[in-house]
Amino acid sequence: MAKAQSRYVCQSCGAVAAKWAGRCEGCGAWNSMTEEVVEKTPGGLSASGRASRKLAFVDLHSESEPQPRLTCGLAEFDRVTGGGLVPGSAVLVAGDPGIGKSTLLLQVAARLTGSGAAPLARCAYISGEESIDQVRLRARRMGLSQAPVQLAAATSVRDILAALDGPEAMQVVIVDSVQTLYIDSLESAPGTVSQVRAATQELIRLAKKRGFSLLLVGHVTKEGQIAGPKVLEHMVDTVLTFEGDRGHHFRILRAAKNRFGPTDEIGVFEMTDAGLEEVANPSALFLAERRGNIAGAAVFAGLEGTRPLLVEIQALVSTSPLATPRRAVVGWDSGRLAMVLAVLEARCGLALAGQEVYLNVAGGLRIGEPAADLAVAAALVSAATGQEVPEETVIFGEIGLSGEIRPVSQVELRLKEAQKLGFTRAWVAPRGSRGAGRPKSGGDGLTIEEISHLQDLVARLEGPKRRALRVQPTAG
Ligand code: TYD
Ligand code: MG
Repeated sequence: MAKAQSRYVCQSCGAVAAKWAGRCEGCGAWNSMTEEVVEKTPGGLSASGRASRKLAFVDLHSESEPQPRLTCGLAEFDRVTGGGLVPGSAVLVAGDPGIGKSTLLLQVAARLTGSGAAPLARCAYISGEESIDQVRLRARRMGLSQAPVQLAAATSVRDILAALDGPEAMQVVIVDSVQTLYIDSLESAPGTVSQVRAATQELIRLAKKRGFSLLLVGHVTKEGQIAGPKVLEHMVDTVLTFEGDRGHHFRILRAAKNRFGPTDEIGVFEMTDAGLEEVANPSALFLAERRGNIAGAAVFAGLEGTRPLLVEIQALVSTSPLATPRRAVVGWDSGRLAMVLAVLEARCGLALAGQEVYLNVAGGLRIGEPAADLAVAAALVSAATGQEVPEETVIFGEIGLSGEIRPVSQVELRLKEAQKLGFTRAWVAPRGSRGAGRPKSGGDGLTIEEISHLQDLVARLEGPKRRALRVQPTAG
């Protein structure tokens, strides 16, 4: 590292000061001054002593084969990274404290070094949070003590760089966590924006130079941001978030950004007392706690990346004593819920305005697909009318503002998964010309019923409480 000098830059207006201040003198913003390192270049760019080099432009096409990706053999992890780690790239694994990041990366390290199916790789695990004994203890509990992972406990970036910048470089370097690293030329404490940014920058620079894959662990702050705000996300090639509900055993690894693969893939793991176990069939896991048929529950056949995923959606509708009834959603978009409620009211004559509405995606999963609209509507209508959705039925379709049900993608994949899990009926969006000629029965005992309008769905769920909820629908 070159000898560095620091200055303080306002993150909102860019004003520069020599000393830290609580308030920026330029724009008056509070708490916006952060430390930045300046590396000395005498004079301006043109005045500097170094002669400029002429840039050599090249073609997009290349004759040489790119270096193969490193797969660790944990299929759930490899899929989320887009098919393995790219040499020279940086991956940030972010998540709440205690969610299992260290556990996951220790397992990845052990698999990479040969206890998995993949070819051997030289892999270093640098722990800044736990001592060597603590990591060893964890490895023993998980049965990984024999894996030839190079373990070190360090927090000084200078030391880490010196250890890694050698001829027989590592292929994978894991740093747990980036918030514990510090650069001694900066005054601020480890974990501050300037430290995290500078440390990451140095490590990424070395990763590119030596061609190793860098895996960084990052904690998420209370507000749900990766500490050292967005800066870190921009610097790395891939951001993986590791999520899960404290009350549940399973954890979901999701690609939030990936320069080398798709971002809609998820990996599902289950936390056991011997570490994380891959879940090859997540639908079965998410539906495991389903209690027969109850009003207000509907099974949605969704899609996460390339994988179909069945989840239960639960709704509760009850009369509210409040002037503004409460609406609470877990696992789905509240704006989308408001839209479905409005369409149910305006096009189907269900009076839901005075009702409290609670919606929950079972198991702690978060759904982003509009294809869940129809299943959400079914759960809501079923909760409101007291009429259960018929047994063993999966539902999917997008709802338009006039109440029409729109087709969704990957119908066959969703139906196949439903069939595999023993479902016998599917309420789906009309399949248009592509599906028109197909038999209505899926062959293996799956009856497919197309629903073209929301009124159609409401009619199927006429129940004991329906009359009380009736208002006059607007013509749609
Ligand atoms: P950890 O990987 O330390 O979390 P992070 O690095 O994200 O802070 O995991 C911590 C939790 O995982 C801890 O509460 C205990 C649990 N755990 C298990 O249930 N089984 C195990 O085999 C291990 C290693 C951890
Ligand atoms: Mg940890």
